[in-house]
Amino acid sequence: MKVICFKNHTELSVFAASAIALAIKNKPSLTLCMASGETPALTCDLLVKNLTEEQVDYSKITFLGLDEWVGLPPENEGSCQYFFRKKIFEPLQLKASQYFLFNALAEDLNAECLKMDALIAEKGGIDIMLVGIGMNGHIGFNEPGTSFTSISHVAALDEITKTVGQKYFTQQTALTRGITVGLGHLLNANKVLLLANGSKKAGVIKAAVEGPVTEIFPASIMQQHTNGFVLIDEEAGSLLDKSKLS
Ligand code: F6R
Repeated sequence: MKVICFKNHTELSVFAASAIALAIKNKPSLTLCMASGETPALTCDLLVKNLTEEQVDYSKITFLGLDEWVGLPPENEGSCQYFFRKKIFEPLQLKASQYFLFNALAEDLNAECLKMDALIAEKGGIDIMLVGIGMNGHIGFNEPGTSFTSISHVAALDEITKTVGQKYFTQQTALTRGITVGLGHLLNANKVLLLANGSKKAGVIKAAVEGPVTEIFPASIMQQHTNGFVLIDEEAGSLLDKSKLS
């Protein structure tokens, strides 16, 4: 794992978007798995801009949505699906065959997990995974206590996730479960970018990067990834031991 500190969220997002665009140029059939949320929002916009302006052929990529709130319809503006539709699929005009998102309304959620796992296996694993970090150290909906070998699964949401998650919704929304790609897939991914910005993330970044590697704090898994990059801005890195920064 490497930790790279940028001046601000914009510089961090420019770096992440360029890294993904370059990876698509080098491997047009890239499999990309991404989180939604506040942190990667600008990266998504810049990725669309880069791919379009540089006329990169992205017609063969496969896009996987990292997670979804169980029970939310795709038209709910706080859903991950809504985010990806507006930020990636519509601007890039991706074909429906190029992306897979968990159907959070499916009667058989386990079947959704199996579909995701089968697709990841069919693609030979995830090439790049771009994730955020929750205020409890979660990655996707891999909540504290999730096994580092987990595959796609349905998770009961932690209280912190339920509370912090309200920021995505215009009205109070009952959040109980999430469906998510597992941490085993993250460990097996060729490259992982974990992004964090702002002073509110300083504590969880310190725990992820300098704390013990433990399933109690899922993001500490990054320390075990040989091609993992923690991309932070100065505020998110403000509590770190500066000698450990790249
Ligand atoms: C969302 C996801 C979550 C977020 C995390 C940070 O798809 O996977 O784990 O990455 O909760 O969210 P933000 O970026 O909104 O602070």
